[in-house]
Amino acid sequence: MGNRYSVTKTFGILTAGGDCPGLNAAIRGVCRAAYDRYGMNIVGIANGYLGLIQENWRFLRPQDTYGILTRGGTILGASREKPFKDRKGESDSEIEGDRVQAIKDNYRKLNLDCLVVLGGNGTNTTGCLLAREGLNVLGLPKTIDNDIVGTDRTFGFHSALAIGTEAIDRLHSTAQSHSRVIVIELMGHKAGWLALYAGVAGGGDVILIPEIPYDIKAIGRHLEARAREGKSYSIVVVAEGALSTAEAAMDKKERKKYRAETVNPSIGYRVAREIGEETGMETRATVLGYVQRGGIPSASDRVLATALGTAAADLLAKGKYGRMVALIGDSIGSVDLSVPAEKVKNVPLDHYMLDTAQAVGTCLGV
Ligand code: F6P
Repeated sequence: MGNRYSVTKTFGILTAGGDCPGLNAAIRGVCRAAYDRYGMNIVGIANGYLGLIQENWRFLRPQDTYGILTRGGTILGASREKPFKDRKGESDSEIEGDRVQAIKDNYRKLNLDCLVVLGGNGTNTTGCLLAREGLNVLGLPKTIDNDIVGTDRTFGFHSALAIGTEAIDRLHSTAQSHSRVIVIELMGHKAGWLALYAGVAGGGDVILIPEIPYDIKAIGRHLEARAREGKSYSIVVVAEGALSTAEAAMDKKERKKYRAETVNPSIGYRVAREIGEETGMETRATVLGYVQRGGIPSASDRVLATALGTAAADLLAKGKYGRMVALIGDSIGSVDLSVPAEKVKNVPLDHYMLDTAQAVGTCLGV
């Protein structure tokens, strides 16, 4: 039991949004340090913000975090509940009443000094809005998408990168055997970090990310040039949010309609069809899907999640609320919760990895 002084006596902890490897390592980091160093009481809230609305929680004891460092998923459960959508009139929730008010009421009922939220952009945005409503909130940045502003890396990204890279490695041999173009679709609706990094790590011949709208003619030219050089197969890595130059020129409504008609069953299949039509080459598509989010965290994610978790416990002890812990350069620090709120960290067009990819002969779709 802790013997250091702590401003925070009791806090709630939840995991929200899509899960990712490293969540349990982070929960363990926060809880061990909070309990062992500072003797705080910990309330584990089930299924993200939903648990705080539906009064689904339990007190966590140190033994609840034994053996979870290496486990994928989250022992707390997760949901994509976004309570502030109610107030914007966008809610599709079946839960009656003001969900933000329910969260505030239950926060007080539990006598919490702070709410610790582990999540991506949506989760940290909700955390920031709750802080503006008067709650004490701390955020931790998790997501395989690596798209949170304020941190140099999110935990979950490194594990997903390893899985994506292994998948690309495996596709190489079968693409070669059959002289095919194989398109592999990786996650990343808004940001292309995962596709870009896995594409570079796996030696993708084409990498398509949402930040750089693609021209199918440029892709065709690249693949045909490869064929002329005697390279009988190619690997095309596509982020799920990739879009064509024609789509990029459309307004939001038009684009939504166009995608509903053409993205079937997903963007990887559309790109494979388009390449087939453009070049006449034999193409196949593979969608990696939730495999990217499952399973054990990489060593690097375990280390990052543990360091971010224990740093969050230190902020709790100091009563330094309204922050998101972050990897900044080679150190662990924190930023105001407004920094990540309502933003997406895209791949900047001058990012060195884009130049790296092109320098080794990878086409970025333009
Ligand atoms: O966790 C982020 C993410 O992996 C995105 O890349 C993907 O678009 C999304 O989750 C899909 O998750 P779900 O189906 O759980 O909403």
